[in-house]
Amino acid sequence: MAKSSTFVCQSCGAVTAKWSGKCEACGGWNTIVEEGPPPPLGTNAGKRGKGRPFRLEDLKTQDEAPPRRVTGIGEFDRVTGGGLVAGSALLVGGDPGVGKSTLILQALAEYAKAGGRAVYISGEEAMAQVRLRAARMGLSEAPVALGAATCVEAILSTLEAGPPPGIVAIDSIQTIWTGALDAAPGTIAQVRTASFDLVRYAKASGAALLLIGHVTKEGQIAGPKQVEHLVDAVLYFEGERGHHFRVLRAVKNRFGPTDEIGVFEMTGQGLAEVANPSELFLGDRSGRAPGAAVFAGLEGTRPLLVEIQALVAPPGYGTPRRAVVGWDSGRLAMILAVLDARAGLGITAHDVYLNVAGGLKIGEPAADLAAAAALVSSFSGRALPPDCVFFGEISLSGDVRPAPQAELRLKEAVKLGFKTAVVPLGTRMTSPGLALREIADVAALADFAGDGG
Ligand code: TYD
Ligand code: MG
Repeated sequence: MAKSSTFVCQSCGAVTAKWSGKCEACGGWNTIVEEGPPPPLGTNAGKRGKGRPFRLEDLKTQDEAPPRRVTGIGEFDRVTGGGLVAGSALLVGGDPGVGKSTLILQALAEYAKAGGRAVYISGEEAMAQVRLRAARMGLSEAPVALGAATCVEAILSTLEAGPPPGIVAIDSIQTIWTGALDAAPGTIAQVRTASFDLVRYAKASGAALLLIGHVTKEGQIAGPKQVEHLVDAVLYFEGERGHHFRVLRAVKNRFGPTDEIGVFEMTGQGLAEVANPSELFLGDRSGRAPGAAVFAGLEGTRPLLVEIQALVAPPGYGTPRRAVVGWDSGRLAMILAVLDARAGLGITAHDVYLNVAGGLKIGEPAADLAAAAALVSSFSGRALPPDCVFFGEISLSGDVRPAPQAELRLKEAVKLGFKTAVVPLGTRMTSPGLALREIADVAALADFAGDGG
């Protein structure tokens, strides 16, 4: 045991001088692991350069727009902000099994087919397994350079020996380790140091680096959170088990917007792009069951129609039950309270279930009105008109507030054949094709939805 080794909590990163069963910082049990002394930052990656600050105006002559590596997978390129920036590092995080390896292998294959040099290094699967997967996805002809390695020094010397790649993918950061540290692979120190060295390589060589990271339960193994600050962009790949839709979402991007999503469908031959996600999240709209309302939402620059389903049932014994999938449960509690206080419904005593169709997660406050409509509809037992969309934020006073980009939402509704939109007061639409029903507050909504439109 090295004398100066430290003990690091694998859950929160707290450093202590001695081992203990419980981390004092985060309260986690059995999360503290012994790690060797950390090397001074960057020792592993080369000598120190002489730092000299530049003046911003002196840098003006450089190309304004950074060069981008476009993969040809439209949904992926849009989320990255128009392609991967040369010399940048991007982290793709997600639950194990969601499809990260599949997505990245497909992106690399498309990039390589178009003539780019793509390198895929797997620390999890043997070369034969990667080839099998590629064959199943119909990509065995793609000229992607494959490698199976876990030691960062070996990876870097292999990369430096060949011609500089356009895109390098490392699958996954949790398997990569550096010989400069004593700690076991997957610990925070290993993941950070190895990622740091790879990021330095990307900056020096101009390759775009893709790091894949598993989001782990309770952070038992150092997760993507530990390297988010090292990289230029962070994408999360999400999907509910049992649904075949997958959503790629940007949560940090130094070179593009952070509210874009890309929608994919997992098929037998890998991931397929979904060009019109609204059709996918709407479900079957032929029947008129009470409790379903269509929300005209927005994800980044893209409008997205999605069905919100509610079930209000007579209460059983004890505290009323609440269950929410795809929406914020605090938000649901608030909407229920506002419906009771401002529209006099008496709904809070009932059991309430709310579900967003297709396994999508909604974060927009503009979904309030659609959720409230679904709740009132289920409570009253009257179905809403099937050709009607909703959007608008509900305040605690019961007023319905405007939502951004109304025009974009309404246009999408017209495109998909909807006839009516229930909207906040003052919403205007320049293009024809939709009847606007302006709603001032939840009492007016309760009248509308309670009568079945
Ligand atoms: P994978 O990309 O290995 O996930 P991750 O790298 O995020 O752990 O994908 C795993 C799941 O995807 C696996 O359970 C099977 C499914 N899958 C398909 O349904 N079709 C396919 O063509 C492929 C390659 C995977
Ligand atoms: Mg994988």
